[in-house]
Amino acid sequence: MKKYVIKGPVRLAGDVQISGAKNSTLKLMVASLMIPDEVTLERVPRIRDVFLMAQVLEQLGAGVSFEGDRLVIDASGELSEETPYELVTKMRASIQVLGPLLARLGRARVAMPGGDAIGSRPIDLHLSGLERMGAKFQAEHGYVEGMCDRLRGVNVLLEFPSVGATENLLMSAVTAEGTTTIENAAREPEIQDLAQFLNAAGARIDGAGSPSIAVEGVERLTSVEHKIIPDRIEAGTFAVMAVATRGDVLLKEARADHLELPLQKLEEVGAEVQRGDDGVRVTMHRRPSALDLVTLPYPGFPTDLQPMMMVLLSQSDGSSILTENVFEARFIFVDELNRMGTRIRVEGHHAVIRGVEKLSGAPVRVPDIRAGAALVLSGLCAQGRTEIHDPGHIGRGYEDFDEKLRGLGADIEVAVTDA
Ligand code: UD1
Repeated sequence: MKKYVIKGPVRLAGDVQISGAKNSTLKLMVASLMIPDEVTLERVPRIRDVFLMAQVLEQLGAGVSFEGDRLVIDASGELSEETPYELVTKMRASIQVLGPLLARLGRARVAMPGGDAIGSRPIDLHLSGLERMGAKFQAEHGYVEGMCDRLRGVNVLLEFPSVGATENLLMSAVTAEGTTTIENAAREPEIQDLAQFLNAAGARIDGAGSPSIAVEGVERLTSVEHKIIPDRIEAGTFAVMAVATRGDVLLKEARADHLELPLQKLEEVGAEVQRGDDGVRVTMHRRPSALDLVTLPYPGFPTDLQPMMMVLLSQSDGSSILTENVFEARFIFVDELNRMGTRIRVEGHHAVIRGVEKLSGAPVRVPDIRAGAALVLSGLCAQGRTEIHDPGHIGRGYEDFDEKLRGLGADIEVAVTDA
């Protein structure tokens, strides 16, 4: 078992290269199942979730090969319809194979994803949308089994702009008969990336990035090469880290247009932000101001950056209220954080954060990817030694996280635990 050992406090300074977006890469990989030809993805992050998704694709019968940050996927052969339990439980995003398999094979058998560390995450919106398009589902022995003839274009109004449901419906609609419209669609940049990728392969998608997406079905998709967008959550994580450590960091290739609200919030707490064509520079010289914050679907403040903001606001000169509207259990790591001297009280989906003068290093355990990054940040800000146990979660979503932090001056080492 590994752990991170951090000695703080530190002021992060320098340049950091932002990797390709995890949440885009995973969806482009599953969308490749619909293309009976070779697909090349560039700027692919070498992270655990991507390797797991590669296993899912291989299990389904696709060829997958990595060359540096390029990934070649060949789904031209015969595909199987079954995604096994062992892989789906390791990564919930595996459920995204449902739409592509139904579209390509007319059948799919996918293990039901269980709840994970950030709460029970149902898939009812995915299933009801696909049912409207003509699929039939039954749940048995922990698996959801879907069958359909060629899916047909319909109007789907989503109850909530779910990212995963929008993506599953978008992919299914690409080769459906007729036109599909998705209303109250999620607007995340990763959905625009997916649409751009599919359009380059021959799809006819209009309006991705807006709440209303129209997809005109086509017969077949063909070979495509695509460069993945930079990871806005990784960029946002380093931006918050720069501010919380009163540092000065250039986020190379980060896209300010994908991060507008987080950058505005950082300016509100006192940071200077320079938005450039080849990156974003974030500088902070003083103790942050307190701030109230609400997470919402894009372009609202991303739930994935909420844990890091909590650490930043913990060091402010006042009290802040943070409201979580997307994942109900996202505050589960607050008890760990409070062991490091923060004063956070959780009431339902609100957290009241009282700013403190200093944090103190302690051993803590990581429950999920984003809470893991937040605990590392806390260790960078705290006085003395912090041990981060179970750092493996962090490697699911961040490429070379500890190495990139060392490049910015952090004293962070990987050590082996006795347990
Ligand atoms: C994706 C991201 C995740 C991010 C989240 C919100 C990936 C791999 N993950 O997750 O990092 O935090 O978007 O930006 O891209 N819901 C339902 N029924 C459904 C689907 C969702 O009730 O059928 C609920 C979920 O329980 C959750 C909320 O809707 O409370 C948001 O989920 P969704 O937008 O679907 O997020 P994911 O696609 O799972």
